[in-house]
Amino acid sequence: MTLRAVVRGVGHYLPTRVVENSEFEAKIDTTDEWIRSRSGIERRHFASGLETTSSMATSAARAALKDAGLEPNDLDAIVLATSTADLTFPSAATMVQHQLGMTRGFAFDVQAVCAGFIYALANANALIVSGQAKRILVIGAETFSKIMDWTDRSTSVLFGDGAGALVLEAQEGEGTAQDRGILSTDLHSDGRHRDLLYVDGGVSTGASGYLRMQGNQVFRHAVAKLASTAHTAMDRAGVTADEVDWIVPHQANIRIIQGTAKKMNVPMDRVVVTVQDHGNTSAASIPLALSVGRDRGQIKLGDLLVTEAIGGGLAWGAVVLRW
Ligand code: ACO
Repeated sequence: MTLRAVVRGVGHYLPTRVVENSEFEAKIDTTDEWIRSRSGIERRHFASGLETTSSMATSAARAALKDAGLEPNDLDAIVLATSTADLTFPSAATMVQHQLGMTRGFAFDVQAVCAGFIYALANANALIVSGQAKRILVIGAETFSKIMDWTDRSTSVLFGDGAGALVLEAQEGEGTAQDRGILSTDLHSDGRHRDLLYVDGGVSTGASGYLRMQGNQVFRHAVAKLASTAHTAMDRAGVTADEVDWIVPHQANIRIIQGTAKKMNVPMDRVVVTVQDHGNTSAASIPLALSVGRDRGQIKLGDLLVTEAIGGGLAWGAVVLRW
């Protein structure tokens, strides 16, 4: 018997304010046509002044717990992927723990920018298969609208806010690729590329700063690195592209999503795409896509999924799981 981290529940939260591309046309030198054709984005959600990463994460967490039929104190841990925690510390995860009324277990943040949810899943999986926790809430939540330079047309049109969450639970499997749960993980980073994508603020500057990105340079790395990590994770899980029901990619750019799917030999009708409605929500994009994909009726019990992401660091990776 093999211990597996199996998805028991999923949920998400999106702020009510929806911003169409046309809103940017009035403020900066851009067009709906440019944004759609270069990125695939049509609209995104922005948090209100009162909403924070932890408040959105808590809403997504409540939805996932309800879906799982569990109470907060049924959890052993919360792992929250974010680069936009409410404060430098304490972690957004402990704020969620408090907001949920969870009075046991432990909670911590994972920071790997857009690859954050992949890193969080890998960490949660390790805690479960090593027997340190039985039930873990894994959340991706971001308020990138708060680190946008609204005068920079090359970044401000790309990002959005939101949160998604999964409840993972330890269950016995057979040790084969037919098991439900996480079947393999693959993580990478390369700090030599830090200048391609970073925030120009933080503790060393005294201000929280703004996102800076050389988008076309990141683009050049993205497809090759994503296809490579997905293949490594699939090999490790003992599955082939033919068997994959859904790729659930990080939602940064439709052209990256299409290029990666092509390199993986998986047709686009087996890819969950939400980038048109959410923009790039960084660490929130994969759990949002999992939750929306399940609600749309795309992702079903027993489906084989490959999730992959790349972001600032650069940091990238993939997870293969059976839903
Ligand atoms: N409206 C109109 N024109 C624009 C805009 C805009 N909003 N933004 C840039 N342009 C212009 C540029 O100035 C440039 O003009 P020039 O040729 O006169 O210099 C032209 O459009 C082309 O710019 P590129 O940056 O080369 O455009 P590209 O086709 O590469 O698309 C994009 C840009 C969408 C950012 C793309 O490169 C991309 O998606 N990159 C990857 C982003 C990503 O995946 N990041 C990782 C995850 S994010 C994270 O970790 C936080």
